[in-house]
Amino acid sequence: MTLHCRPKRLTRMSELGFDGVVSRRIVLLGGAAFGVAAFADAALPPKAEAVAMEFDPVSANQEDTITLPDGYTWHVVASWGDPLWSSGNAFDSTSRGTAESQAMAFGDNNDGMSCFAVGNRTLLAVNNEYTNPMIVWGNRASQSYENEDDIRKGMNAHGVSMMEIRRGAQGWQVVKDSPLNRRITPDTPMDITGPGRGHDLLKTREDPQAVLALGTFNNCGNGRTPWGTYLTCEENFHSYFHSPSNPDWTPTDALKRYGVKASNDRYGWATIAERFDPALEPNEPNRCGYIVEIDPANPIARPRKHTAMGRFKHENCEMVVARDGHIVAYMGDDERGEHLYKFVSSKVYRRGMDNPSTLLEDGTLYAARFDENGTGVWLELTPETTGMDTAEICIHTRQAATAVGATTMDRPEWVTANPKAIEAYCCLTNNKNRGKSGQPVNAVNPRPNNQYGQIVRWIPAQGNHSNQEFKWDLFVMAGNPTVYQDAYSGSSNITPDNMFNSPDGLAFDSQGRLWIQTDGNYSNAGDFAGMGNNQMLLADAGTRSIRRFLVGPRECEVTGITWSPDRTTMFVGIQHPGERNPDTCHFPDGGMSIPRSSVIAVEKPGWFGLGRAAIG
Ligand code: FEO
Ligand code: CA
Ligand code: CA
Ligand code: CA
Repeated sequence: MTLHCRPKRLTRMSELGFDGVVSRRIVLLGGAAFGVAAFADAALPPKAEAVAMEFDPVSANQEDTITLPDGYTWHVVASWGDPLWSSGNAFDSTSRGTAESQAMAFGDNNDGMSCFAVGNRTLLAVNNEYTNPMIVWGNRASQSYENEDDIRKGMNAHGVSMMEIRRGAQGWQVVKDSPLNRRITPDTPMDITGPGRGHDLLKTREDPQAVLALGTFNNCGNGRTPWGTYLTCEENFHSYFHSPSNPDWTPTDALKRYGVKASNDRYGWATIAERFDPALEPNEPNRCGYIVEIDPANPIARPRKHTAMGRFKHENCEMVVARDGHIVAYMGDDERGEHLYKFVSSKVYRRGMDNPSTLLEDGTLYAARFDENGTGVWLELTPETTGMDTAEICIHTRQAATAVGATTMDRPEWVTANPKAIEAYCCLTNNKNRGKSGQPVNAVNPRPNNQYGQIVRWIPAQGNHSNQEFKWDLFVMAGNPTVYQDAYSGSSNITPDNMFNSPDGLAFDSQGRLWIQTDGNYSNAGDFAGMGNNQMLLADAGTRSIRRFLVGPRECEVTGITWSPDRTTMFVGIQHPGERNPDTCHFPDGGMSIPRSSVIAVEKPGWFGLGRAAIG
């Protein structure tokens, strides 16, 4: 394999993705047949230059607010239940809304998002991942749905919120009644594209041709295409299916692989819509777990479910144009022991000629194998390698990845590609099952019972993201150096001042700064003592130094990041504040208000000039 890299200039072990001390201790801990020498051989040269990180880091804390470095400000752009149209009702914290009001309002539990310039308008596309029964039905004594309207309210709080925003005297606010505003819900019709279109595994009574799916839900991370469309990624779809019609129903092995089981009745959808009852509609779960493309400039365009990009619990979708012109989409499957994927389009991208594009309807899927010596291979998923036909590979993608021997990972969350270097990074958030049956400790997932997580990075061979070969290292292993002295203390770039757990959201800005968002244990006790609430950090890809930039409110996850087209504002998602003890959290409204997931705008006078480059 030939890698076109800058000359190696790593001389100290502490500069490696894995520092020597940690590596030696991992060998002792995990018993795996790798060590310092293997990482020295495979160490990646620093591809990205060091970038300035001009702020004073903030301390970990358990405040019920947003903490930022001195000089930075924040304000709320939208919270769960805020109406997008003037005919919608303002959020009612007593009833917590109705099915009708929620259909007209910003959804719940915002996650991945992208900002688009549409003409002279600014549009924010935001995923609304799921609902928390304690919050959405917190008006009920049962803290659950009690009638059909409750269930429909919950459904309407899922999906995607597309909304024009504008900066006024109050900062960035939603433009009510904008022609661009749109709610996409679990009932929105969407075209099925790619090899799965028309396939028997996707046929239902309502859609015997398998061409038109209803809705999208559990939309986690996101992506954007070079031709200016939004990508929303379907993650934990399994938890919406159960069978009120048949108490004896049991899932097939194929459904079990995706987590579908008889007891998933948290949302109640199957009690009002037969398609969520797999005893009646066994193929409906096969129509979920895809990448969905939405055109932000055309609010009546049907979204498209792209089966060619594979079916799994999609985290986000990081899209790049490879050196050879093919579209490459990196995608994590967030489940313990599942895999990291990429899709490579069959045709090449032609700038300015690709909207609407068919590039995501035809291509090849690959799953990653990370070898012990710091090299890796993208294993092609084809009929020859898997024994499955092309449509089956797209629908039962997990089984295809197992067939080729892909590496089981510590829950791959967001992937991001560096705009300043040909390299990509992925958060492996945590994995309590590492070291147990079927998930042996290996070089890229080196710690048994991994409660802290790590970030892996790779450089594709020949500077081409469509190449099948790559080199990799661990950019950081999260850990707690105040509790542990071994591998669980983290890699050398973790200190008592920047420690965190469970990296999840991950995005480069256009200057090559790497933003890390966490979805971890916020107990601030035991193994997590001193880490405080979930947070956002800024990392330097060149030096591997990491500084804490933001701390979120109590019991939140920080997830979702995008920038205004004028690059003056960074939008950040605050998801599920007060998720376990809602009485202890009153973000963002304060007083005795109920906690609401929100998008905030972060600014500083004269800042930032960052934002994403051509893609992302
Ligand atoms: Fe929706 Fe894996 O986070
Ligand atoms: Ca996530
Ligand atoms: Ca997570
Ligand atoms: Ca979470």
